[in-house]
Amino acid sequence: MDRWKIVTRLFLAWLLTATVWTVAASAQERVNESLGTDLARFYASETARDASLPSLSVTGELPPASALPDAWSLRPVFSRVQGRAAVSVDITEGTSLYGTGEVAGPLLRNETRAVAWNYDAYGWGGNDMSLYQSHPWVLAVRPDGTSFGVLADTPNRCLIDLRGGIRFESSGPEFPVYIVTGEDPAAVLKGLAKLIGTMPLPPLWSLGYHQCRYSYTPDDRVREVAGTFRDKNIPCDVIWLDIDYMNGNRSFTFHPADFPDPRGLMQELHADGFHTVAIIDPGIKEEVGYHVYDSGEAINAWVQTSSGAPYRGNVWPGRCVFPDFTVAEVRQWWGGLYGQFLTLGVDGIWNDMNEPAIFNTPTKTMPLSNLHRADDELGGPGNHARYHNVYGMLMARATWEGVRAARPNKRPFVLSRANHLGGQQWAACWTGDNTANWKHVDWSISMTLNLGLSGQPLVGPDIGGFVGAGSDEMFARWMGIGALLPFARGHTGKGNIDKEPWSFGGKVEDTSRRALERRYRLLPYFYTLMREAAETGMPPARPAFFAEPANPELRAVDHQFLLGQDLMVVANVHESGAGDPFVAPVGTWSEVRLLAEEKVDPDLPRLYLRGGAILPLGPVVQHTGEISLDELELIVSLDSNGRAEGLLYEDEGDGYGYENGEYRLTRFVATLEGDEVQVAAEIVGGHWKAPVRQLSVRVLNSNVASHN
Ligand code: GLC
Repeated sequence: MDRWKIVTRLFLAWLLTATVWTVAASAQERVNESLGTDLARFYASETARDASLPSLSVTGELPPASALPDAWSLRPVFSRVQGRAAVSVDITEGTSLYGTGEVAGPLLRNETRAVAWNYDAYGWGGNDMSLYQSHPWVLAVRPDGTSFGVLADTPNRCLIDLRGGIRFESSGPEFPVYIVTGEDPAAVLKGLAKLIGTMPLPPLWSLGYHQCRYSYTPDDRVREVAGTFRDKNIPCDVIWLDIDYMNGNRSFTFHPADFPDPRGLMQELHADGFHTVAIIDPGIKEEVGYHVYDSGEAINAWVQTSSGAPYRGNVWPGRCVFPDFTVAEVRQWWGGLYGQFLTLGVDGIWNDMNEPAIFNTPTKTMPLSNLHRADDELGGPGNHARYHNVYGMLMARATWEGVRAARPNKRPFVLSRANHLGGQQWAACWTGDNTANWKHVDWSISMTLNLGLSGQPLVGPDIGGFVGAGSDEMFARWMGIGALLPFARGHTGKGNIDKEPWSFGGKVEDTSRRALERRYRLLPYFYTLMREAAETGMPPARPAFFAEPANPELRAVDHQFLLGQDLMVVANVHESGAGDPFVAPVGTWSEVRLLAEEKVDPDLPRLYLRGGAILPLGPVVQHTGEISLDELELIVSLDSNGRAEGLLYEDEGDGYGYENGEYRLTRFVATLEGDEVQVAAEIVGGHWKAPVRQLSVRVLNSNVASHN
């Protein structure tokens, strides 16, 4: 054969192979989509995109996708590791990582691992990789403060590995990845909120103090606890009913002997300014004649085993079946159960054990092979491996929707132990069965912050600790901190010592009263922040570094945190000593006292107001029903130009009038004119007219910490 011919043939053969390879590669090419200048979505391949199921987290309306510009630098790398779908995103040196939802340990998450897998983690500690909620989301802050976030859009069990970069590894099918970019972390959080929604404005009473224990029973004990708050002038809005109010732990029942007249009890509590929240668990006792079992059975409501029979597992009531919340008809049935229940006067609902927790199984949950008959909009029928992490979220959704339908003129308040990225739309969060030790006091802050950085604004721990007794000093400090976190509830476990604010003697009682008086003075500010959270997704409690994202010294600080952008809380989380110093961000930060001089208490966190801010304070009241802002105090901290500004949001505190403009958003502006400070008020939102009220103004001039 002619030499050239051979060469040509070889070349043609090569060309053919190369072409086939290119065609195959382009069919498998990654799909990179732009969803606006700050948001992109990536799939492992076209096949993965075409096979992808509906998102259970990304429920926001997204702009149409277009080709990703070459200039977009953050590109995830997809791979498969031992049969699992993996994605990694590189970070540059000095990038700080946060988020990942409900995780124990410090605020800064670099070099940590977590597994997004809802788990009944009673008595959890620093080594637990999975707690009750799952948030496959990481916030990354570069050295210059510019930021991005990576969302692994999978409900399946997912490892979040932050050793050396950002890596997700899921045992489920390939999943899309969203990357949100922003000039600072706040911009990224607002971008996240566009994907996963925000928490609707909660009722004002839910921002007051909540008192719980497992359990206040019988009804006279509830009366006694409520009455003691009033007798002792310790502010409180809500008394909680844990499982012992039920008849044999059956959800939607009251114990006939211990709570013979729930309606009367609720009326008494209401008359005294209390709201009540009652626990409702998903495990339904398998018992003919029990109305919830019977009505659920009639619509075939239960999660099934792989052979199609109702799955049965043991929880508090004994042998139980479990509603399949992935089916709209089941959610409606469940939501409908609240209609009757709420007529008794219960105000809010606490959904617990909804990982779902099952006793006496090594996995503490149901088999992954169990079947959910999910609606198509959720991805259609699938096994528990797909729907496990969203079981609690869908329960909370069914609850929220049911409560809303039953009382359309009130805002639902739902607390859920299990939840998933996006679930803040339906429920607030507490951090589960913590332990009374100093580490947990400390983690109360970091966990609340990381949940806030993962979309959940209304968070707090069991103040005082669920497991174990703790000490007087610990309780006092915990109350001081907890009273300044978005959701403030004291709680403790069955058989534990009493943990009401007065249970540790007079000194701790005084500290607790002061802690709560401070919270109640701050409620106008908290409420304004919750409205901001509802509008933009910005959490009320933010890491200190939000005040100066490029300052490396603030990145790992978690004994202090910001409320909004103006108030820095500096806590003492250590057993002994004066605590860590205030790490001041740029600008002027002036110590501010919320109570009269004689109430200064070293056990309470110190507070610093940003120069340039105006803090609105209400009066000390015993519950939110007493709040009247006829008397409002403004604390003014001038910046170096002699100026300060602050916002105040007001509405009826409940209901939906605010959606039609029945509210007032006021901007206060203070300016230094000569040696006088002038304060102007301007209504910048809502139809409510300017009020006639007495404003008192306090100007801070003791600048205790300032640097540029
Ligand atoms: C779970 C909850 C806890 C509750 C208890 C009884 O352990 O986490 O808060 O008190 O169940 O309902």
